[in-house]
Amino acid sequence: MRAVFPGSFDPATQGHLDVVRRAAGLFDEVVMCVLTNPKKAGRLPLSERLALLSEMTSDLPNVTVDSSTGRLLVDYCRDAGVGVIVRGARTTRDLGHELPMAHMNRHLSGIDTLFIPADPSLAHISSTLITSTRGR
Ligand code: PNS
Repeated sequence: MRAVFPGSFDPATQGHLDVVRRAAGLFDEVVMCVLTNPKKAGRLPLSERLALLSEMTSDLPNVTVDSSTGRLLVDYCRDAGVGVIVRGARTTRDLGHELPMAHMNRHLSGIDTLFIPADPSLAHISSTLITSTRGR
């Protein structure tokens, strides 16, 4: 089965890498797809996010990198033949935020979301905090 791991990846982190590594062991192919999160101001240009993702996943042969702007994740899934959505979850707060999206995505498309619990040693990492604490 082909899975998608969607996100802003602004920037991608060791936490994202751990999740995609584990997902790559479960599915035939995992596409890391950079999407727009309307609640976040973008910082890195798309080209830099994609380059970083490609570099980080270069040792994972069944992981590919893609992007999609201006449309819903479920439309991307339909066009790309994706059967499952993968998301990492660090905390119950993450799950509280993610569950309504998972419900809506399944309602719209029938596609389920698989949550991979973050490795506790990486659970403090967030793209937002990395940007605001850069250099420390
Ligand atoms: O890394 P993020 O910012 O937590 O990722 C959130 C993202 C990009 C996966 C989410 O905002 C998303 O799916 N955006 C695409 C538009 C969409 O499908 N929105 C409806 C979700 S119910």
